[in-house]
Amino acid sequence: MAQKSDPQRQPHEEPLQPYNPTRRGFLSVLGLAWLAFTGATLGTIGAMVRFLFPNVLYEPNPVFRAGYPSDYALDVVDERFKQSQGTWLVRDKDGFYALSTVCTHLGCTPNWLPSELKFKCPCHGSGFVMTGVNVEGPAPRPLERYKITLGDDGQIVVDRSQVFRQEKGQWSLPGSRLNYTA
Ligand code: FES
Repeated sequence: MAQKSDPQRQPHEEPLQPYNPTRRGFLSVLGLAWLAFTGATLGTIGAMVRFLFPNVLYEPNPVFRAGYPSDYALDVVDERFKQSQGTWLVRDKDGFYALSTVCTHLGCTPNWLPSELKFKCPCHGSGFVMTGVNVEGPAPRPLERYKITLGDDGQIVVDRSQVFRQEKGQWSLPGSRLNYTA
């Protein structure tokens, strides 16, 4: 039987051939599909495993023991817990208080200057006297104090999860200082 000619086809064009994939071509397409499937499956499993182990920040315990009261000299800012706990301990004639080392301006860490008897912030120049009260620079309020008590074993216990703010009248609340006159 004579084949019908395609009326759309130009005389110089080759006749269309039916698609006839080779065995090799078929296998490579199959391989790519398998790779894509495996990748997608592994990605999904990875996402599920990631979901089982969410990002968790392990904050250090806010409560720490700071030794015995007799370990501290009078009218001295003790810096032994500045780095590890972000806390200065100060002993005055009535007892102890624990100051936060976070500047109340923008959060830098001031330095204690014993010769000038003040904390001086290196970032924008705020100054705080030994009690933590701000006296110069842009800091809008005093340093914060942490809860301080005496533990059953006779050691000073500081709890950084409880904060006392002078401008809110909290420095007179129990726990804002530890009375000790021995
Ligand atoms: S952060 Fe301390 S003065 Fe600005």
